[in-house]
Amino acid sequence: MEVYEGKAKKMIPLDDGKYLMEFKDDATAFDGKKKAQFKGKGWLNAQISAKIFKLLEEHGIKTHFIGIAGDNKLIVEKLEMYPIEVVVRNIVAGSLKRKLPLKEGTELKEPIVELYYKSDELGDPMINYYHAKILGVSEEEIKEMEKIALKVNEVLREYFKEKGILLVDFKLEFGKNAKGEIVLADEISPDTCRFWDAETKKSLDKDVFRFDKGDLISAYEEIYRRIMD
Ligand code: ADP
Ligand code: CDP
Repeated sequence: MEVYEGKAKKMIPLDDGKYLMEFKDDATAFDGKKKAQFKGKGWLNAQISAKIFKLLEEHGIKTHFIGIAGDNKLIVEKLEMYPIEVVVRNIVAGSLKRKLPLKEGTELKEPIVELYYKSDELGDPMINYYHAKILGVSEEEIKEMEKIALKVNEVLREYFKEKGILLVDFKLEFGKNAKGEIVLADEISPDTCRFWDAETKKSLDKDVFRFDKGDLISAYEEIYRRIMD
């Protein structure tokens, strides 16, 4: 099996149904059109993801996380990935502003769940159950992913609230294991979540890079510091 090198991570197959997931220092945004490197980002995202996966496991959510293997690497269960990104939103930001007549920062009465087709070529278009079915993902499987995503939202929202951080929105990916179970995969980090400081509403996530809002490493370190407290 070959090493897969993506935009943010390298997936190195191990021989026993596992992957070594190596987090890179590269940052990309706007479908890979904006690129840069931040020394230490890979380490921060690996550590933050590991901490979040452990927390979710404690709450009974099945994840691919097995362990930490050195600074910027995790050992994960190898899955057959669904080509779907599941986004959950609590507060209006990002692309939601182009879908609803609501201002950035508006708190949603209930979380919104959205589905996207993971395709760099097509620019990750938003899809529904009908499109998913054509991509080989059944309605039942989507419903299960949505249910897990909402549970993840409940756990993380509360957890981050206690740390003085608002969980604005985030993206999840899922895969199927050898037993046919749907398992939470990929990463959960400031690259894939929007985190705002509850008091100042300052971004502590990839928006710092997307919109040149300051120093990315300081923002990610702030998340790391608060969750390791
Ligand atoms: P991209 O492929 O979007 O550039 P990354 O650089 O983050 O993204 O690469 C990680 C790749 O590994 C993604 O394609 C992701 O779907 C996939 N992946 C994440 N977790 C697992 C897993 N447990 N098993 C197999 N593939 C995984
Ligand atoms: O951020 P952008 O405007 O591209 O998209 P969005 O739909 O507003 O993103 C919602 C959430 O999902 C944000 O926390 C993004 O960081 C995350 N996301 C991601 O991690 N990967 C993607 N391919 C798209 C969104």
